[in-house]
Amino acid sequence: MSDNSLIGVFDSGIGGLTVLEQLVKMFPHESFLYIADQGHCPYGTKTPEEIGDRVEKITLYLLSRKVKAIVIACNTASVRIARARAVTDIPVISVIDPTCAKAVGTTKNRKIAVLATESTIKSGVYQNMLIKSGVTPVPLACSEFVDYLENGGAVSGEKIVRYKLSQIKDCGMDTLIHGCTHFSLLEDEMKKVLGDINYIACGQPTGEYLKQILTQKNLVTGFTGNGTVEIYTTGDASRAEKTISWFKPAHSPLKRIEVE
Ligand code: DGL
Repeated sequence: MSDNSLIGVFDSGIGGLTVLEQLVKMFPHESFLYIADQGHCPYGTKTPEEIGDRVEKITLYLLSRKVKAIVIACNTASVRIARARAVTDIPVISVIDPTCAKAVGTTKNRKIAVLATESTIKSGVYQNMLIKSGVTPVPLACSEFVDYLENGGAVSGEKIVRYKLSQIKDCGMDTLIHGCTHFSLLEDEMKKVLGDINYIACGQPTGEYLKQILTQKNLVTGFTGNGTVEIYTTGDASRAEKTISWFKPAHSPLKRIEVE
């Protein structure tokens, strides 16, 4: 059995495209519909209720487009995954569990830094999972990285990263979780401060998990050609296009949609 429907993927902005890039590589025959909810970005400084409302609205929109599965390519929104699962029975996948599991399997000294938005750090979700696995978390809220990236990097990324990471650089962790999907875009700058530790991004572990789910539920596409990638924003499409020049997979021109 197979299913040729779209896979829905969303984030508050461009960060989730780091996940989508991996998914397109891992699933070349699948077709994806991506929503950057830039009309409501950033999520990371909103209340849990406000974030939950966006999760529910975007899920309902994706369901109207008949997607077969949804990947929440945003950690802040993944914390509120229950709001998506409350309105659908199709698989809804969080980036948090697979990314955390990969980091736990990677660390040798059992000390892991978690860089995430204010809201994700406040929720304690990563810290609790790491402590349960016998790992010491070193949490750091970095919501300002999101503003920097969404604004096309108007100032020096290295300066912002160096300033923030100075707070944790001597903590002795051997692994760092990009607990916000935007943050892997700053990995080169982070390496200049923290050196050659393990950097764990959400894309690959989430893709591995998606593979298991699609297989288990007979949802793998039967299509053998190249899948398509549609990208939508709830913000300004021409502005968004300028900030995603690094996103290489072939995709339709960015279009604006309303999701209210
Ligand atoms: N990319 C999102 C995440 O993974 C959050 C960005 C935001 O604050 O909107 O958490």
